Amino acid sequence: MSIDYQSKIPNNVNLNDDKKLQRALEAWLPNYQAWWNEMGPEGFQNDDVYLRTAISVDKDGWAHFDYVKMPEYRWGIFLTPTESNKKIHFGDHMGEDVWQQVPGDYRNALKRIIVTQGDTEPASVEQQRLLGKCCPSLYDLRNLFQVNVEEGRHLWAMVYLLHAYFGKDGREEAEALLERRSGNADSPRILNTFNEPIEDWLSFFCFTTFTDRDGKYQLRSLSESAFEPLARTTNFMLTEEAHHMFVGQTGIQRIIQKTAEMTKNGEDPRKLGLIPLEIIQRYVNFWYSCSLDLFGGEDSSNSATFFGAGLKGRDREESYQEHTALDQYYALPTPVGDTLKTEEIPLRRAMNEVLRDAYVNDCDKVVRSWNRTLEEIGSDFRLTLPNKRFHRTQGIYAGLLFNPQGDMISQAEYEAKKDQWLPSAADKVYVKSLMDKAYTKAGEFAPWIAAPSRGIEGQPVDFEYVRFCRG
Ligand SMILES: [Fe+2]
Ligand SMILES: [Fe+2]
Repeated sequence: MSIDYQSKIPNNVNLNDDKKLQRALEAWLPNYQAWWNEMGPEGFQNDDVYLRTAISVDKDGWAHFDYVKMPEYRWGIFLTPTESNKKIHFGDHMGEDVWQQVPGDYRNALKRIIVTQGDTEPASVEQQRLLGKCCPSLYDLRNLFQVNVEEGRHLWAMVYLLHAYFGKDGREEAEALLERRSGNADSPRILNTFNEPIEDWLSFFCFTTFTDRDGKYQLRSLSESAFEPLARTTNFMLTEEAHHMFVGQTGIQRIIQKTAEMTKNGEDPRKLGLIPLEIIQRYVNFWYSCSLDLFGGEDSSNSATFFGAGLKGRDREESYQEHTALDQYYALPTPVGDTLKTEEIPLRRAMNEVLRDAYVNDCDKVVRSWNRTLEEIGSDFRLTLPNKRFHRTQGIYAGLLFNPQGDMISQAEYEAKKDQWLPSAADKVYVKSLMDKAYTKAGEFAPWIAAPSRGIEGQPVDFEYVRFCRG
C-alpha cells in the first residue's frame, strides 16, 4: 500500500493503471487549485507552513512534517488496505461479500451520502478562511492551516469515489462541490451548520471540537459500509480527523485555563481582556446544538434504509451483539402537545439517534476534561452540555422551545433567557474585539489564551511554525 508521490496526484490506488480515471481527476485538479486559491486561507498562500503530509497509511509514522506553501500541498487519494474475504457484517445483506462496485439499487442513496459528506469538507475551509488574520499565535495558525489542508484532502477522498464509481453524474457532482459556497444565498453548502460564519477563534475551537466530532461519527458509521471503497476511504480520513478534534479540545482548554488562572481572586475577566467562562458556555451551547442537528431526524425512514441496506452501520458495529436491529425498539421522548411522551420506535428507524447518543457520550468526556482543568485551578465554575432537545432546528424538537435542561418552555421564558444560553450580540462583539490582530512572533500568545503544554511533532512551543515570505 505504498503511496505514489511521482504522479501528479499522490495516491495508493494505482491510478497509473486506470488512465481514464487518472485523466478525469487530473482535469478536476486545476479547478480544485483555483477553488483553493480563491476560497482557502486568505493572506497566507505564499508562506511556508510546518505541515504534515500523509506518506503511508500505516498506523505508525504515516505522516511527514516539513515546510510547505499551502497551494503546493500534495493532496492525494489514500485508502486503508483491503481485507480479503471481507463480509458485510450488519443489515439485510449480512454474510454476503462486501461490494467493490456500487449496487444499482443503492446508487442514488450512496451518491447522496458521499456528496453530503464531501460538501462539508470545502465548506469548513471557506468558513475559516479569514481566521489567520486574527490568530492567537504561530502555533495556532499552523494548526488552523493543517486542519484546512486536510479538509481539502477529504474533499479529494470523496471526489475520488464520485469519479471512480459514479460515472458522468459523479463527475458532475464533483464539479458542483467546487461551485457551492458556504453562506452564499444562491448556492449555499448543503448542511446549514456549514453555512454559519466562523469569524473568531472561540467559534473555531468549538467548531473543531463539536462539528469535526460530528464528522468523526459520520465517518465511523460509513467506515462500516458494505461498499468497501467507501469504508477504506473513511478509515484513513478518521486518522487525520483526530488532530482536528485535538486542536478544538485543547484550544478551549487553553482559553479556560487562562481565564480561570487570571481571575482566581475574583478579578473581572473583561478588564483583563479574557473570555468569561459564561461566554464560553454559550458558545459551547450554540456549536454543540448545531452539530447535533447534523445527525438528521430522530425517527427516520432513511436511516432504516441505510442500515438495512448496509450503507451505514452503527458506531463500532462489532461492539453490538446483534446486527440486524430487527424486533428491537428505541425509547424516544416525543413532543405531544406541550409535553413529552416516550414512544417506542423501531430501532432501525432510530439509527440517527443511536449515532447521536454515541456522539453525546464522546462530547461529555471532552467537557469533563475541561472541568478537570477548572478543578485543578480551583475554580468553582463547571461547563455542561445542554440537553439534546435544546436549540434544535432539525428533527422532532425543531420549532419547539426547550431550556438547556431539556424542559419545554414558553416563548416568553425563552426570549427572557436566550441571552444567558446562547451567544448574544454583545458577546460576539466582545469576543471579536479581543481578536483584532494576529500574534505572529514565535512564542508569543494572545492574552486570552494559555500557551500549549507542548509543540507539534516534538518541536518547541516557540518554534517558527509559519515562515512569512512577503515580497
Ligand atoms: Fe474532514
Ligand atoms: Fe476535520
